[in-house]
Amino acid sequence: MKTSILKILIAATLMFGVTQAEESIFGKLPDGQEVKIFVLTNASGMTVKVTEYGAILVSIEAADRNGKFADLSHGYDTLEGWLTNTSYFGSTVGRFGNRIADGKFSLDGKTYELATNNDPGGIHCHLHGGLKGYDKVLWKGETFEKKNSSGVIFTYTSKDGDEGYPGNLSMEVTYTLNNNNELIWEAKATTDAPTVLNLVHHSYWNLSGDAETSINDHELTLFADHYLPTNKGLIPTGDKAPVAGTPMDFTKPHLIGERVGDQFEALKFGGGYDHAWVLSGQKEGELTRAAKLRDPKTGRTMEILTNQPAIQFYGGNFLDGTVTGKGEITYEHRTALCLETEGWPDAPNNPKAPSAILRPGETYSHKMVHRFSAE
Ligand code: BGC
Repeated sequence: MKTSILKILIAATLMFGVTQAEESIFGKLPDGQEVKIFVLTNASGMTVKVTEYGAILVSIEAADRNGKFADLSHGYDTLEGWLTNTSYFGSTVGRFGNRIADGKFSLDGKTYELATNNDPGGIHCHLHGGLKGYDKVLWKGETFEKKNSSGVIFTYTSKDGDEGYPGNLSMEVTYTLNNNNELIWEAKATTDAPTVLNLVHHSYWNLSGDAETSINDHELTLFADHYLPTNKGLIPTGDKAPVAGTPMDFTKPHLIGERVGDQFEALKFGGGYDHAWVLSGQKEGELTRAAKLRDPKTGRTMEILTNQPAIQFYGGNFLDGTVTGKGEITYEHRTALCLETEGWPDAPNNPKAPSAILRPGETYSHKMVHRFSAE
């Protein structure tokens, strides 16, 4: 659709206070397949763009305390850019998001071998679904519009043996933007053979709207009394540990930069924060409070709620200025952070973790609410 027509539609949306989903062609994959992009708008003027490639969140604009809108996520301006995405910006990650030790797990007595595509601390592991995870495949998107929300439902079937995982896995990932300024990411899946999974939404946030600034000055609360200590390969050692008295304690709001340089083994292994916190189960309706992130400069605030047991807080420690993204900006160290609701990392190898197994007849269901406001 032409930009001018899109602008008129967005203006009309704002005037009449409704939500809307619009689609257009983003570009083509190297094999010629067309890729769609969708624009969601809500009554207060928030704009969310999502694409069929990787079921990726391309951008999200929300207001600061003065009503100024800005994009809050790292990524690329064009589909060509997104095709080079090795940082999982905005992605839907799977079949198993986060790490699996040594790329191996056993299920019902059979051992499965996966790609070892990551090696923090020089120790090989499987990360985010392997060489070609769900962030690098073409999903099929369908829009929907309701009275107070609009969105896109993406579907994709990962074949038995895809990246070494057993079972044909049918997935549905839905992005919904509503008039309460919430972006909801929801994943559902069924399988025809037992498998393991951990579908994860992987956006990189900088609530200031300025992707050249550090997120060390953002204030974070994690509704978690425990975290998962890891070995130097960032694989959880098995047990959870109390956060009390450590720089991992975000039960009260703390600036991220306040303790990130402390002499503390977990921070040393992670090169900063890069761990899973076990949620304490503070309920809001049927969901659990996971995190609250606030940028004191602009007042922009994002709360995260989920039905999952854990959240990975990754502080952008591996961003090192080698990736050039939106607006030709080079993404430097800790200019964005990820808050990924999920099951426990390496759950398939940890009997103490909540089960990550999905069996035929069961439905996997992961809900993640991002609620935006300005304080
Ligand atoms: C992990 C990081 C990893 C990053 C890759 C995060 O989920 O925690 O260790 O480098 O994903 O984008």
